[in-house]
Amino acid sequence: MPKFLTLDDFELEGKVVLVRVDFNSPVDPETKKILDETRIRAHGESTIKELSEKGAKVVVLAHQGRPGQPDFIPLKQHAEALERIIGRPVKYVDDLYGEKARNAIKSLKNGEILVLENTRTYPEERKKRSPEEHAKSEFVRSLAELADIFVNDAFASAHRSHASVVGFTALLPSAAGRIMERELKALSRVLESPEKPCVFILGGAKADDSLKISKYVLENGIADTVLTGGLTGHLFLVATGVDLGKPNMELLEKQDVLKLTGGIKELMDSYPGRVKVPKDVAVEVEGKRKELSVSDLPTEYPIYDIGAETIEEYSRIIRDAKSIVVSGPPGVYEKPEFIKGTKMILEAVASSEAFSLAGGGHTVAAIEKLGLSDKISYISTAGGALIEFLMGEKLPGVAALENAASRTKA
Ligand code: 3PG
Repeated sequence: MPKFLTLDDFELEGKVVLVRVDFNSPVDPETKKILDETRIRAHGESTIKELSEKGAKVVVLAHQGRPGQPDFIPLKQHAEALERIIGRPVKYVDDLYGEKARNAIKSLKNGEILVLENTRTYPEERKKRSPEEHAKSEFVRSLAELADIFVNDAFASAHRSHASVVGFTALLPSAAGRIMERELKALSRVLESPEKPCVFILGGAKADDSLKISKYVLENGIADTVLTGGLTGHLFLVATGVDLGKPNMELLEKQDVLKLTGGIKELMDSYPGRVKVPKDVAVEVEGKRKELSVSDLPTEYPIYDIGAETIEEYSRIIRDAKSIVVSGPPGVYEKPEFIKGTKMILEAVASSEAFSLAGGGHTVAAIEKLGLSDKISYISTAGGALIEFLMGEKLPGVAALENAASRTKA
C-alpha cells in the first residue's frame, strides 16, 4: 500500500478542507441532465459526510466533462444531488477561484459544505504539469491561501497530473480521502499479493490496454490466467493466426490495433496456455444469434459474443479462482441476443468465493443491468485510472500524496 496520510491523521474541526472528488458523470447530451449519480453518492456518503460531521469547512473541487464536449456542464446539479444524497445542506457557487468563490469559502461555518465551479473552467487545469509547476498558478495559490488541508479523494482522476489533482499537494498538508483509500486497498489486494489462482478477464473494446495489462500481470507473476473476450478476444485470436472475416477484421483495422498482434503472439508464446482466447463465437445473422466454432472462421457476419464452449471453459477457470479482476465485458451485452456470454461469465464471477474486483464504465453498467452488484467483492468507481493502475503505472495523484506525506513527516 502507498504511504500517504489519511483523514485519521488530522484534527479537522474548524479547518478549511479542500477536497478533490471525481463527480464526472454521464450526461444526457440533449437535456444536460446527469444520468448516473454513483460517483456523487460514493464521495458524498463517505469522505464529504465524514469531513462535515467532524466539523471541517468543506470545499468541494471536481470536474465534469471536457471543454467543448456536450458533457462539459456546471456543477450546480452535482451540488443538488449531493445535498439530496447526504441529507445536509450543500452550497454552490458558480465561480472557481474568483472573489465570489473566495468570499463563499471565507463565510463557511464548521461542518458546512460548499461546491465550487467545474475545475475545468480554469483553462490550465488540464495541463500535464508537476505539482510544483501547478502550484505557481493563481488558481492553486489563491485557494490554497484560504485552506488548511487538501484531501484527494479522486482516485478516478489520479492518472491525470492536473492542477486540482496534484497542485495543492505542493502547498498544503495533504491526505487521501476514504474513496481513494478504499480503491487503493482493493487494488493492492489483487495486484500486490493476490490469493492464487488469480484470473484476469479482459474484454471490451480497448484491446490496446488489454495487451499492456496482460503483459504486466503475467510478467509480474500476478495473474495465473488471462481470459480474453470482446474486441480484445478478437485481436488475440488474430494474433494466433485466425482470420475473423471481413467485417470483424475491418473493425480491428479501423481501431488501428492490428499492429499489436506481434506483441500479443510473443506474450502468448512466452506464457503458453496462460492466455485464453475464445474457442467459439456468436455472430449476428439477420438479427439472430448463431454460434460458430473458431475452426469455421472466417465469417461474413459480425461477431458480437463468445460461444457456449468458451463460456464453459472460462466459467470453469473462474470457479477455481481465488482472485478475479474483470475489466471489459466479453460481448456486446447491449444487444439482447448477445448478452449471454457477459451474463454467464459475470454470474460465474458473482457466485465464486474469490475476491472479485470489477471496474470500467461498460463493465459496471453490465453488472448493474444483470443485478449482480452486491455479489462482486469490489466495484471500482474508476475507468482510465483503474486501467493505468492495472498496467503497473504510477498514478500522479497518488505519487503527489506520497510526496506530500514524506514532507509532512520530515
Ligand atoms: C474518468 O471519468 O475517467 C475521470 O473522471 C477522468 O476524466 P477524463 O478522462 O476526462 O480526464
